[in-house]
Amino acid sequence: MSGRLSDAWLEELRSRTSLEEVVSEYVPLKQKGRRYWGCCPFHNEKTPSFSVDTESQLYYCFGCHKGGTVIQFVMDMERMEFMDAVRYLADRAHMEVPQLTPRQGAPAASRDERERMYEANRDAARFFYDTLWSGEGAEALNYLYGRGLNDSDIRRFGLGASPKGRDALTAHLNGKGYDSPLLVKAGLCVFKDGRHIDMFRGRVMFPIINAQGRVLGFGGRAMGDAQPKYLNTAETPVFNKRLGLYALNFAQKERALGRLVLVEGYMDTVSLRKYGVKGVVATLGTALTEEQARLMKRYAPEVWISYDGDSAGRKAALRALDILDQQNLTAKVIDYPGGMDPDDFVKAKGLAGFDALAKYDSASYRMLRAKDDLDLSTQDGMTQYALRCCAILKAVKNPVEMENHLRKLVNETGYDREILLRQIGVSAAAKQPTVRRPRKREEETGEIGIAEQALLSLLVSGLIPSGMIVPGDFSDPEHRALAEWLAGGKSVNAYIDCIDDEARRAHVMSSISYDPLPREREEAAKMAESCLGVIRRDRVRRRIEKIKGQMNGASAEQKAELYRQIAELMKQLEG
Ligand code: UTP
Ligand code: MN
Repeated sequence: MSGRLSDAWLEELRSRTSLEEVVSEYVPLKQKGRRYWGCCPFHNEKTPSFSVDTESQLYYCFGCHKGGTVIQFVMDMERMEFMDAVRYLADRAHMEVPQLTPRQGAPAASRDERERMYEANRDAARFFYDTLWSGEGAEALNYLYGRGLNDSDIRRFGLGASPKGRDALTAHLNGKGYDSPLLVKAGLCVFKDGRHIDMFRGRVMFPIINAQGRVLGFGGRAMGDAQPKYLNTAETPVFNKRLGLYALNFAQKERALGRLVLVEGYMDTVSLRKYGVKGVVATLGTALTEEQARLMKRYAPEVWISYDGDSAGRKAALRALDILDQQNLTAKVIDYPGGMDPDDFVKAKGLAGFDALAKYDSASYRMLRAKDDLDLSTQDGMTQYALRCCAILKAVKNPVEMENHLRKLVNETGYDREILLRQIGVSAAAKQPTVRRPRKREEETGEIGIAEQALLSLLVSGLIPSGMIVPGDFSDPEHRALAEWLAGGKSVNAYIDCIDDEARRAHVMSSISYDPLPREREEAAKMAESCLGVIRRDRVRRRIEKIKGQMNGASAEQKAELYRQIAELMKQLEG
């Protein structure tokens, strides 16, 4: 991920940045030993388990295991991509980011030009907003009142109105120094019949604002039956519908969200949020993309798909489920009754009604939809239903969940449990799912595991004489890899910044955050020695066990040799 910037440049950036300074802008910190402590901004807690190590310049939460360098902190906190976090920190450190090749696919534009587009969009949003509250916006204002919004809702979402005239916005922005070709590039106007005319005319305007508060584009709602009902800003160098989400600027401010609520429409977003639902975002007039799924993952571990309750919404929900399942995001689905959309529903039933709605897990929702075109009162319909459900259940990995679905299916269809299991074709599914790191538990809690973590933390601390600890002292492959990296003279921060996988980063961070560590070299060396003792003795014991295993079936001569080896090892244990 950091491949394109040189290691040396990134090292310079990290060393010119103070982690505790950046963190304390978000979290009040108190110093205790070489760490600062505070309440973790990434999960809800009352007693501080979030810490900043001033020496290694790494943060780590002992509760939720999030951790990393200052770059990772900004990425997590501001939900930025790696490069954006780097730019943000470089700005603070007064460093210039080396010129990189432009993003593929995005229409070409220089950085300055993109900045101009953001500014033009912001000025356009202000213009629409002002228009709404002027006499010219009366119709739009009444339209919004008619949709159940009050003045403060309208202000909160920055809604506006585009004038009916041909080029009111273009003329206004020209007057402010933006030339028309730039406005065309930003999707604010089009060149037609020899002149520039506004893209949006006579519409209610929804500004689309990203997590950093920049206006990327607009959705414009027709007030009458004009087509299309919604007109969206086209692809521009600063607006990519596949990458963004509506209302991220609000989600950004909502910390420790348990889940996001994904809706189809701008009005649904505004309406649910008006009634107090948190974490609501919408796609931008297109079907959900993988990129958007990955983006959502940065905000919450779970997404509730909250699409319209009509048949189009249900189909779209199934497609969105496929994408979220693929990205390993826990997804639930809300099935609005009577073909309602979230806006209709929350207006009728309020927040309590929304909270009370069932949230179906992925398999349950698919099973619900499997019934749609079947007649379950016939044997044939029931058989089809059972077959469809078995196909759906193949994807369920968790045995407890599988058991719940199976019980329900036995109940509904009358088929024997064994028959259904055979149809699912995974009698294996009843077995334990494969665990990613099978030795993890024991490794992290046993005596040896703790010694290894303490040793690695000491190695990272830089307090240990070089050569005292070698990569071969570690049995965990990740620990060994880090030790090798450090032996090559590279920094731990660079290692951490190269880890994309969150679980892997949590594993490494927990391994190097042994606390408390001594602050003096002498003490540190003593502690390392005792850790090494524990680890090396353990290794000798294992070798003895292995040799004992070779005794079976060995000749008398071989046995004598094995005994000699054991005696040798025992001596090492005593020594
Ligand atoms: P809907 O038609 O369900 O929108 O389209 P809505 O928000 O419920 O609209 P209201 O309540 O009638 O105002 C859902 C979303 O699909 C996109 C928009 O993003 C819209 O919010 N869409 C819809 C378009 O981009 N163009 C269209 O013509 C219609
Ligand atoms: Mn609607």
